[in-house]
Amino acid sequence: MTSFPTDETPNTASPAALRALIESRRAVRRFTSEPVPDEVIRDCLELAVLAPNSCNLQPWSFQVVRDPALLAQLHPVCMGQNAARAPLIIAVLARPDTWRQACRNIIEYWPEAEVPARVRSFYSKTAPFQYNQGPLGLFGLLKRQLVRLAGLRKALMRTPNSRADMRLWAVKSTALAAENLILAFQSHGYATCPMEGFDEVRLRRVLDIPRQAMPIMLLAVGRQGEKGIYNPRLRFPLEQQVTWL
Ligand SMILES: Cc1cc2nc3c(=O)[nH]c(=O)nc-3n(C[C@H](O)[C@H](O)[C@H](O)COP(=O)(O)O)c2cc1C
Repeated sequence: MTSFPTDETPNTASPAALRALIESRRAVRRFTSEPVPDEVIRDCLELAVLAPNSCNLQPWSFQVVRDPALLAQLHPVCMGQNAARAPLIIAVLARPDTWRQACRNIIEYWPEAEVPARVRSFYSKTAPFQYNQGPLGLFGLLKRQLVRLAGLRKALMRTPNSRADMRLWAVKSTALAAENLILAFQSHGYATCPMEGFDEVRLRRVLDIPRQAMPIMLLAVGRQGEKGIYNPRLRFPLEQQVTWL
């Protein structure tokens, strides 16, 4: 992947092209059996991980399920829903548990010959303080009290200071990656359906998911099948959801 050092915001996609891509996406519940080529899947995953993410710690992982036997097992896990008959299902996992390794990765994969001192310091001191919650979350508890006191005098970030905060922290960034993934497939002409309608306990019996990883959605992917879209698009008026200040 290339970095893009410039003082201007590069804009290679026209607003109209982006609008057309976003508007063309729908949740599709019926797919053809045509397989999705591995090159396409790889390209889409490369775009997924370009999503903005907290401190660049990239707290996500993906399990790409193409094996027909595994897919057949996932269908009942998704409670028999039609979308889960897709030729490809990607389990999108939020990873509140990978930040330590990610801090090391930043140093190891830094894209320049020298890792700047401020970067080294951030990922070896600041980030570990921020993300470590300690055994049973006890360090988080201590940090919550420290933050309460320090926050009386100055503005500061008050989370994540618990294991629950860490889960939310990871889910935020992973959801952004999931949207990139969805739009990337759309750009290749493949439809998708994000699914949270699955039994997590049974999912963990089928896929080897690390204990602390959170399967936030199973993404069904394939060519749109007949009557694949169930309902007309519906969104509430923007005025109900937006405040202009
Ligand atoms: C987190 C999440 C979970 C979803 N779970 C399911 C699901 O289990 N089954 C399903 O058919 N659709 C599921 N959907 C799709 C939504 O129902 C769909 O996006 C919504 O109705 C809006 O329709 P549109 O995507 O076509 O605009 C899910 C979407 C999201 C973002």
